[in-house]
Amino acid sequence: MTLQNKKIVLGITGGIAAYKCPEIVRRLKDHGADVRVVMTNGSKEFITPLTLQAVSGNPVSDSLLDPAAEASMGHIELAKWADLIIIAPATANTIAAINAGMANDLLTTICLATAAPIAIAPAMNQQMYHAPVTQQNIASLEQRGLHIWGPGSGEQACGDVGKGRMIEALDIVDRTVDFFSPKAPKFKLLITAGPTREAIDPVRYISNHSSGKMGYAIAKAAQAMGAQVTLVSGPVSLATPSNVNRIDVVSAKQMHQQTLAQAPTHDIFIACAAVADYRPSDVANQKIKKNDDDMTVTMVKNPDILADVAALTKARPFCVGFAAETQDVETYARGKLQRKKLDLIAANNVSVAGQGFNSDDNALTLYWNNGKLDLPLASKEMLAKQLVVEILKHYNKHA
Ligand code: PMT
Repeated sequence: MTLQNKKIVLGITGGIAAYKCPEIVRRLKDHGADVRVVMTNGSKEFITPLTLQAVSGNPVSDSLLDPAAEASMGHIELAKWADLIIIAPATANTIAAINAGMANDLLTTICLATAAPIAIAPAMNQQMYHAPVTQQNIASLEQRGLHIWGPGSGEQACGDVGKGRMIEALDIVDRTVDFFSPKAPKFKLLITAGPTREAIDPVRYISNHSSGKMGYAIAKAAQAMGAQVTLVSGPVSLATPSNVNRIDVVSAKQMHQQTLAQAPTHDIFIACAAVADYRPSDVANQKIKKNDDDMTVTMVKNPDILADVAALTKARPFCVGFAAETQDVETYARGKLQRKKLDLIAANNVSVAGQGFNSDDNALTLYWNNGKLDLPLASKEMLAKQLVVEILKHYNKHA
């Protein structure tokens, strides 16, 4: 519930993309926001106030001069109530009116009367968008501190192709979550991600299905929140998130060596890698030949990277582990929390289809001494942002 207690006014103007607004309202509410909708007359040609009242659970405001509406929550009250005003879709006309300081309908009046930040998601024909006056209006709003979200490019309702489409509903929700995410004080994050490979001979190895997506998403989210990030990565086929320092390793022993060398200079350590617990005791110098019907590989235990970082006595970072479980998730996760002396652990049930290893989505439960928090199924990108916010809350209490 990353938008818990956040009060959002969604202003809808007359564009075809207005049909996407119920989805925006629903998803904002999923994140815990209280949403009130303000509609212009034009928008009601595309979507009804009743639909938005139903999804928001609040009366829709659409008139400046309606005594009944003013009596319940007047326009000044609404302007003061908002933590954020989002205008989506925002037509060229509304953008021009706000830039000119007009107050000729309820939405523009609220914009003039509010001290809350305003985000605008432009939506219009590509020619209108590129018109110099529209560009000037948008640039001037941006200069005055309004947030401009989009537009996107592509095929338009009128048949034109180009820039001017409203960005997707979920993108607007993501940006809203980003907007309210605490801008962390600079902190240094060390994170492991991906699998390790334990060689049997020069061409064979033992590994697992970790894709690195979860760890890379966390690295990216933390960097966006102001962290200086060092990513110790097993072999994956992912691009390095921008402005992240990536150190590539292959085996658990290499990951252990690099991570332990980096740990003392970082504030927070997150162990997201799926590190092989065992490695073959001997690595053959040459490719092993297929001589016998069966073959035995003797394995020895790998060092536990996370436990060793958490055991540091000098310059120990705040330690967050992951627990990949297929059963009794809480019991095993809490066991790891205690045994490895961690500050926090994020458990995922990797037996559930569509989450965990090598999927785009995941669901996590955070455990700490006497506490737990569910982060329900979401894209790894979204979950990573929520996770970093939660880790920072614990880290700041602990620091
Ligand atoms: O990479 P993806 O495809 O996106 O998948 C994400 C994930 C499922 C790999 C990730 O969410 C996850 O669960 N990572 C931890 C996997 C794991 O090895 O869990 P574990 O329960 O076996 O290990 C517990 C913790 O100890 C982990 O933080 C692990 O990184 C750490 N560990 C384990 C063994 C070892 N030798 N050294 C370690 O640091």
